[in-house]
Amino acid sequence: MFRTRVTELFGIKYPIIQGALGGGLAGAELVAAVSNAGGLGMITALNYANCDDLRADIRQTRGLTDKPFAVNVTLLPTMRRVPYEDLFTTALEEGCRIFETSGRLPEPYIKMVKDKGGIFVHKVGSPRHARAAERIGCDAVDIVCFESAGHPLPDDVAASVLIPACVDAVKIPVIQAGGVADARGFVAALALGAEGVMMGTRFTASKECSFHPKLKEWFTQLTEKDTMLVHRTINNTERVVRTEFTQKILDMENRGAALEEILPLISGEKVRAAYETGDTSNAVITAGQTVGLIHDIPSVQEIIDGIISGAQDIIKRLNRIEMG
Ligand SMILES: Cc1cc2nc3c(=O)[nH]c(=O)nc-3n(C[C@H](O)[C@H](O)[C@H](O)COP(=O)(O)O)c2cc1C
Repeated sequence: MFRTRVTELFGIKYPIIQGALGGGLAGAELVAAVSNAGGLGMITALNYANCDDLRADIRQTRGLTDKPFAVNVTLLPTMRRVPYEDLFTTALEEGCRIFETSGRLPEPYIKMVKDKGGIFVHKVGSPRHARAAERIGCDAVDIVCFESAGHPLPDDVAASVLIPACVDAVKIPVIQAGGVADARGFVAALALGAEGVMMGTRFTASKECSFHPKLKEWFTQLTEKDTMLVHRTINNTERVVRTEFTQKILDMENRGAALEEILPLISGEKVRAAYETGDTSNAVITAGQTVGLIHDIPSVQEIIDGIISGAQDIIKRLNRIEMG
């Protein structure tokens, strides 16, 4: 057992959380597999074109697991397909009680969730933002570290420093997002003061994720040096796999290309198409630096079991270190 305030808060066995996966990747099969393996699966609400589709996937997930799972609502204006409030209402109607937001402060939605007795977690990238999340009533914070897939802050602070800084800044539990793909990262996160970990990249290369098989295989070949940060100049820093295409985007950004020129190249539709076809020649594919630690495509159960048993071995080894 790895009981922490995070396992207590969510009512789960292990403090391992599947991060939101845009582009349609966090389907019922993956979400339920994570929850069934003792972690917390997370539906990604913006993956759905309408509330009925979200409702259907929540029902499908519930049909596959009787364990808790969460719903992420990524609050980015450019990604809005359905009003955010409607996504919350639908998920609450369907009995979901654990919510995560990311992107910007979720103040208007916290009351909706709290009124139903729910739990609210917000994903941030700095101690200052962690304090803000605590102040508005969040029950925990996910801290996006420099190593992370998705959108780390442009502050470039690695987990080894960012997690302790956030733990010192708030009283609510901290969950480390980014930099974790195996037992070593898991134990390190706990040692830094995090009470849970969130993984995205590791779960994309699992049997249950709908990521195209070619991309899963590609991830197993990449090293820790094969990601890069793009979109800094358009205030939306993102960690992506380094390819000819992403280098072209970075070059455009560096020469000051207009937003209108860049946006069509990096649209969500292109990313979604790449996830479905496996063709990455004109899409930006997000991945964390942990991609360099991924060498196989196991089931979610194998990933989580491996982390837990590996963590027990590491802790035994640490306990054998002579002190004094
Ligand atoms: C393919 C992919 C898509 C993602 N989409 C989202 C998203 O839509 N919203 C969000 O808040 N985070 C998103 N993330 C970030 C993850 O939820 C998580 O915070 C991150 O992957 C953790 O870092 P790691 O990948 O190094 O484990 C995504 C990550 C990946 C790999």
